[in-house]
Amino acid sequence: MEDQVNGFVITIDGAAGTGKSSVAHELANRLGTECLDTGAMYRAAAVLSIDFNVNPNDGAALAAAIREKEIRFDWNQSPPVILLGGVDISQRVRDLDVSSVVSIVAQQPEVRQVLVEQQRAICMLHPLLVTEGRDQGSVVFPDAIVRFYLEAEVEERTRRRVKQLRDSGTSVNDEDIQRDIQSRDKLDSTRLDGPLICPNGAIKINTSALSKTEVVDLMESEVTSRLQE
Ligand code: DC
Repeated sequence: MEDQVNGFVITIDGAAGTGKSSVAHELANRLGTECLDTGAMYRAAAVLSIDFNVNPNDGAALAAAIREKEIRFDWNQSPPVILLGGVDISQRVRDLDVSSVVSIVAQQPEVRQVLVEQQRAICMLHPLLVTEGRDQGSVVFPDAIVRFYLEAEVEERTRRRVKQLRDSGTSVNDEDIQRDIQSRDKLDSTRLDGPLICPNGAIKINTSALSKTEVVDLMESEVTSRLQE
């Protein structure tokens, strides 16, 4: 249990719509840790590109803009709120124009370098951490005490994303969402830097037929037994 005193990191990676964000928050609540949504950081970089006219293909310019404007979280809120230049952009990051540009932004090695650096710095300040994204267990925290990799069928992922968007009042078409998910899957898993892969030694969970509670129950028991080793 010594790790628990000094801090520990749990990583959750997986494609869009596998349920990472909701299970990450629930797992963090149960374990009493903080929760880092790294997708929100890439989405904030996409907002920066769109709203401040920085070419999403110009990684160096974007990285410089990220350092200048500052992407950070307000950790006093639960879940933490993403800020760009001190402004709350937690609603803006979910807009469809942001979703369609974010994979291009996330392909830029310079952008990944800055954000990976920031994620490791966040971990120094918040050493009890559940972190979710695409490269958390493979690149950013390969020594995390437990690494999870979530999968789900594309139809189920589409159904979840459509429901999430409709619940937030956005009118969407199922085919458009499925196409967007498939095109992001392709870009996320084929990029050279930090591609979406199942990290070495990760525990794979297919969430298609499982409820959020069932997924978190599985994860919690894996973490508990690892911490007792
Ligand atoms: O999880 P999400 O849909 O909010 O992620 C938004 C985008 O950011 C997605 O296209 C993949 C990218 N991303 C990434 O490349 N690396 C991460 N660690 C997290 C997200």
